[in-house]
Amino acid sequence: MKILLASSIDPAAIDALERDHDVVRAFNASEEELATLVADREAVIFRSGVTISAQVLDSAPNLALLVRAGSGLDNIDLPYAFERGVQVVRVPGSSAQPVAELTFALLLSLARKVTLADRLLREGHWPKAELGGPLLAGKTIGIVGAGRIGSRVGEMGAAWGMRAIGCVDNPHAGVQAALADRGISLTDFDTVVAESDFLCLHVPLDERTHHMIGADVLSRMKERSFLVNVARGGVVDEQALLTELREGGRVLGAALDVHEREGEGVLSPLAALPNVVLSPHIGAMAWDSQRLIGERVVELLRAHEQGCLDQQL
Ligand code: MLT
Repeated sequence: MKILLASSIDPAAIDALERDHDVVRAFNASEEELATLVADREAVIFRSGVTISAQVLDSAPNLALLVRAGSGLDNIDLPYAFERGVQVVRVPGSSAQPVAELTFALLLSLARKVTLADRLLREGHWPKAELGGPLLAGKTIGIVGAGRIGSRVGEMGAAWGMRAIGCVDNPHAGVQAALADRGISLTDFDTVVAESDFLCLHVPLDERTHHMIGADVLSRMKERSFLVNVARGGVVDEQALLTELREGGRVLGAALDVHEREGEGVLSPLAALPNVVLSPHIGAMAWDSQRLIGERVVELLRAHEQGCLDQQL
């Protein structure tokens, strides 16, 4: 097959793909560059940071398959891809454990000021008195979007002695019991916002969740709480968060792995604040998970060639 590898994936998977297929590699290409590169391609493999727009789809007359090497679908014009008859597959669930683990890394860094302590120590300071922070045990961890990733985060919180509460978009029968089994109490969004000491976001980005955390919600968060976003940058209104944190509102600090604008050379508007921890969308970047995602991508391509790829999104 003629494949465009538009994002970097596990090296063993790249080797396997290059053995069997005609692969063009183009990481970090712009939308315009992609539109040129897809001209003769039958499949595109990509992660977040690559936008599969109508323009890209229109430039690829032979395109039959989009392989999202991860789970988020917000970077694909899905209705148009379906209209064009392009099959879209992904690797759902692959990111639950690594993203949950990163959520905890960020949460602990935020609560115990680990990144700030590291920075100050390297500058020759020993500011123990300024580096206090809350215990996690006994506090409430709130999960907005208690799905695959969120419920794992809640479960980890419960194991740390936290009270775990969460909400889901569509609480169908069985969700409450399934969450309760993992130590998480199902409640509504407003309660999660009002009662959480650590509010963690795990919702996909769509028109309903865009800027879901804005000035109004921030003003309803618990006094002296923390916000962690490992979902998608657009879920948080960064300007509203900047105002909240700069003006000493109810929220004491925030950790963000995802940003409204991402990529090389883009500086977050929150970067100058000491009570913010930032990382460059690395939630899924655990080696073990990337290896599994790579293997799955190779399997999906093979199944497509053999005409037996029937994965539902
Ligand atoms: C995902 O949606 O799987 C993650 O955001 C990881 C990524 O694709 O970069």
